[in-house]
Amino acid sequence: MSAAHAPVSSSTAVKDAFPATDAEAFTQHLATLRRQVEAAMDASLADRPDIVANVPPSLRESMRYSALGGGKRLRPVLVLLACEACGTPVAQSMPAAVALEMIHCYSLIHDDLPAMDDDDLRRGRPTNHIVYGEATAILAGDGLLTRAFEVLATEIPSKDVALACVADLASAAGWCGMVGGQAADLAAETTPITTLAELEQIHHRKTGRLLACALTMGGRIGGASALQLAALSRYGFAIGLAFQIADDLLDVEGTSEKLGKQTQKDAGAGKATYPGFLGVEASRQRAADLVAQACGELELFGPQGEWLAHLSRFIIERDH
Ligand code: IPE
Ligand code: IPE
Ligand code: MG
Ligand code: MG
Ligand code: MG
Repeated sequence: MSAAHAPVSSSTAVKDAFPATDAEAFTQHLATLRRQVEAAMDASLADRPDIVANVPPSLRESMRYSALGGGKRLRPVLVLLACEACGTPVAQSMPAAVALEMIHCYSLIHDDLPAMDDDDLRRGRPTNHIVYGEATAILAGDGLLTRAFEVLATEIPSKDVALACVADLASAAGWCGMVGGQAADLAAETTPITTLAELEQIHHRKTGRLLACALTMGGRIGGASALQLAALSRYGFAIGLAFQIADDLLDVEGTSEKLGKQTQKDAGAGKATYPGFLGVEASRQRAADLVAQACGELELFGPQGEWLAHLSRFIIERDH
């Protein structure tokens, strides 16, 4: 097996918990949910007459370019799976899934800007600012960010649940969450961090908070009990950190063809990364430990939690 295809986890503990047929069923379920997310994202950014009348064409196109241009759709799928784990049909949580993916797509547009990571390839295509220019790319990010909260506030039937989701997402995406983490990530390029705790704090904010938010929004809409919500949140924090460790490892070991973005950029840019700090093997082990910890949080959900266990494994075994 080539390094690019080596799973992040060398542990078989999680893998052995599920027979191969379940793994196939999971792959199919994931594909179905992704298709549903794609369709809902498309509908949410459709060229309705009021949109065409008010949104300049270049802004409309650039928002759709980044929101509908591929991607694994992990965050929205997590929203849907958390809702499903609580025994509620996934469709009810689709507005939250769409909103979260819009926030993620905006974060990628801004992350790729010359003033940030300065990347020209994303999801196998030129980055938004390469196609539409920096000003439109910034505004496309702003447009997706605000549209996300419009969707949450207007499309979740229970206003109490909608309000709680708005608060969750604002906190996870904002200055204490993703935005703060992105600022800390950039600051660490010039003032290197010295402890693992600092590194985990950056990863937790720039990536972990949004992944954990997927779980809490899905759980809230699914009618999770307080205990279930707390367990979903802990699961989310663990896989959130594991996800960024996997992303850092893929920058070292993955291929640009598979990932659809440039690789081997982090070290040259002076990024604070797990492999940079601990080395590849210890990073893999940490990611595997986090996934085992995450799976341990799913007991309260019985068999309905199994999709989430599969997804956590996928997060560290992926090659893209
Ligand atoms: C990439 O996220 C950015 C990080 C937070 C590491 P994904 O790997 O989920 O990107 P897409 O959505 O699949 O393109
Ligand atoms: C991005 O992290 C995190 C975001 C909030 C977008 P990275 O900078 O490592 O993501 P990639 O590797 O460009 O996808
Ligand atoms: Mg970055
Ligand atoms: Mg980047
Ligand atoms: Mg990265």
